[in-house]
Amino acid sequence: MGIYKIAVLPGDGVGADVIDAARKVLDTIGFEAEYHIGDIGWEFWRTEGNPLPGRTIDLLRSTDCCLFGAITSKPKEEAARELAPELQSKGLVYSSPIVGLRQLFNLHTNLRPCKAYAGNPLNLRDDIDLVVFRENTEGLYSGIEWHPVPTAVRKAFDTHPKMARYGGVANDDIAISTRIFTRDGCRAILRDAFEYAKRHAYPTVTVVEKPNVIRETSGLMVREARQMVKEYPDIELWETNIDAMCMWLVKNPQDYGVLVSSNMFGDILSDLAAQLVGGLGFACAGNIGDDYAVFEPTHGSAPKYVGQNKVNPIATIRSAKMMLDYLGETALAAKIEQAVTRVIEEERIQTYDMGGTSTTTQMAEAIAAAAKEA
Ligand code: IPM
Ligand code: MG
Repeated sequence: MGIYKIAVLPGDGVGADVIDAARKVLDTIGFEAEYHIGDIGWEFWRTEGNPLPGRTIDLLRSTDCCLFGAITSKPKEEAARELAPELQSKGLVYSSPIVGLRQLFNLHTNLRPCKAYAGNPLNLRDDIDLVVFRENTEGLYSGIEWHPVPTAVRKAFDTHPKMARYGGVANDDIAISTRIFTRDGCRAILRDAFEYAKRHAYPTVTVVEKPNVIRETSGLMVREARQMVKEYPDIELWETNIDAMCMWLVKNPQDYGVLVSSNMFGDILSDLAAQLVGGLGFACAGNIGDDYAVFEPTHGSAPKYVGQNKVNPIATIRSAKMMLDYLGETALAAKIEQAVTRVIEEERIQTYDMGGTSTTTQMAEAIAAAAKEA
């Protein structure tokens, strides 16, 4: 094991608290790394007009992977209003830096494990063990959208017979966000889902789309899944529509294992799945590409809890565990997993979301101590 170079992007709000918590655990188990702190988030949007400065991208390029805290995202008009006065008239448009990072580094797979830990009072049931694979670079979050619609784009759209019903609507009164899927994009997320299912002996992979209505994009994903499952004789492919899946996940979550979906459906699905096992305080994520990866808790920057040492750091600590797995440090990763399992099971240290009064630091210290003994 060499010394790893890890980029750390605490970001906004409670990001710094949860990153500190994860660092405490990583340091205690003897993970040897140099940490390089980078700039990202709201402060840099306001002062520089760019929430993802070029120097941060360079920093990431020089490291093995990245641990990310949280960022604040606001809608277009609100974001523009908060810009520093000298940047106001430059026509800058805010876009989410985490979505940007995913695309820039082609982190095509968003891996979101949602497992019920024994003793977690927030579990809907104790036998849930789901893993959501969310396509992370395409689909409705591709960022290819217009309002007003430029004439050339409008002309192209008007060749579609279904545009007839918009004949009388001005370009200024139409907003278009595109949902682009590529075969390669579908195959990349499906491959990771099937390989994960195989490695961890999940009997099923469920592809969650809506091909009965969204025939071309959802259809492409499902058709590719049907092809790919032929390479995995021990795995059964289930196909469920996104709307029905939301219902089934609340009704029978224990029946499911690996779920795979496109960007937006996966975003929704992963919040739902997270809530079945405790909510965003537990929800960890890995944004994983072929050459780089960014690990982050799924939660946002929780501005109302800033400075209170209050939020549950387990999501970030579990994200750090995923980072160790990615780096091949599986023995250290297992120590974190055992420690998280034990601390939750003991029901002694519980943060506010779990109905307790323990602080972020107390939770981190308890997990660090347990990991040291593991
Ligand atoms: C997530 C978040 C992000 C997303 C936001 C913050 C842009 O909801 O990681 O799930 O939509 O991907
Ligand atoms: Mg989300």
